[in-house]
Amino acid sequence: MIQFILNEKEISTDLPKGTLLLDFIRYHKNLTGTKIGCREGDCGACTVLLGEIKKGELIYNSFTSCLTPLGNAHGKHVVTIEGVNVQGLNYIQQAFADEGATQCGFCTPGFIVSLAGFCIDKNTSFQSGIDAVNGNICRCTGYKSIERAIEKIADKMSERNGQDAIQFAVQNNILPAYFNTIRARLMNYSLSTNGIAPEQGSTVKFVAGGTDLYVQQHDTIADSPVELLFDKDQLNGIFQQGNKCIMGASVTVTDILKSPVFQQHFPSLYKYMKLVSSTQIRNMATIAGNIINASPIGDLTIFFLALDAQLILSDGVNKREIALRKFYKGYKQLDKTNDEFIEQIYFELPTPSSKFNFEKVSKRTNLDIASVNTAIHLTIQNETIIEASLSAGGIGPVPAYLQRSSSFLSGKTISPELVSGLVDIAQEEISPISDARGTATYKRLLLGQLIKAHFVTLFPALDVNKLMTA
Ligand code: FES
Ligand code: FES
Repeated sequence: MIQFILNEKEISTDLPKGTLLLDFIRYHKNLTGTKIGCREGDCGACTVLLGEIKKGELIYNSFTSCLTPLGNAHGKHVVTIEGVNVQGLNYIQQAFADEGATQCGFCTPGFIVSLAGFCIDKNTSFQSGIDAVNGNICRCTGYKSIERAIEKIADKMSERNGQDAIQFAVQNNILPAYFNTIRARLMNYSLSTNGIAPEQGSTVKFVAGGTDLYVQQHDTIADSPVELLFDKDQLNGIFQQGNKCIMGASVTVTDILKSPVFQQHFPSLYKYMKLVSSTQIRNMATIAGNIINASPIGDLTIFFLALDAQLILSDGVNKREIALRKFYKGYKQLDKTNDEFIEQIYFELPTPSSKFNFEKVSKRTNLDIASVNTAIHLTIQNETIIEASLSAGGIGPVPAYLQRSSSFLSGKTISPELVSGLVDIAQEEISPISDARGTATYKRLLLGQLIKAHFVTLFPALDVNKLMTA
């Protein structure tokens, strides 16, 4: 039985766990304010908020309901556009009306819901407001009027001054009064997260965030038996043990972005993670999902390949460890049985003598998959590279650790000529194909430029002109 609060009402349903939240909202509850655009997580028209108690705090995240299994709403507060309505227009809706930020209105519920989430978030700067809607697409209004509306909303939020976020939102006509009751009501739910492994040999499908599986197999998963991994306690959390960072498999991109361990060891973390999809998808997409999906351009996979991450696999009884670098045996072929799932991922944290960088080029900056992405991790001593790891995606059938290129760097001194030599070696090591993301020639060019970008970023003293012509 799945139980949650949908706007103000308690819901119980026996529908399959894999049913899409969007279909439940629209077709079972007739809440048709939530729109269907792409059904692929790309447009944000179906955005809802999911509120839950974490470490005693009520927090809300935006999700694309078109990719969310109903079971992932269990024990939570699901907020649709109908759930943010007050008498008349709420503050966000009024700002949109005042600034002419809506035209046909199809995208507007998604924008309003994303911004309702922004208004009860910790960070309510104008930039955070813009970030909150980076997964929402409008095809007729134009974004300037939406930006002006967000400016107005962010100005309002600057009056909050440490007040309780929900209380402030209710007092200022941003959210309806029933939001004040949600924390206490959610406390009453018992969230059972026991047991992960289905019976050996069963056909149950593992689903975490659903952001990839539902795009590919939307119809089949909705009716199949699924085991939901997203909220399992034992698959969540990021912690540091000595010089290791250990992550549960269901850690999301947002969890990484907000993790103090990552923030401390990756000063440019925000820049990297902003390149990974949109806010809604970052709130849902898990690290293990990205690895298991085995897309040759998986952003997190490329990130962690350069860090030589190790995977702990389990079938519920036995565990084994395998290096991420050895996990891919061919296009979408994994060193994993059907019964096994990833339980944890760990890697050694960068040290003061090491340098890390991640680069990505895609057709659109936000909300797009990479044409080519790459990460580098270097350990340096007195200008000499002691150890190097270079990874790249979009240049072959699997997310690749570039072994020869990495070895080439060891023991060398950093110079424009070294970078030029590295680009040449990398070109010999890759085998891109032409597809919707670009021609093979273009991808070769991109990887070369992104390798140079790694060095320009990490070694600002390098002669850029020489580097670009070397
Ligand atoms: Fe487009 Fe869900 S319908 S993101
Ligand atoms: Fe028409 Fe945004 S107002 S798509």
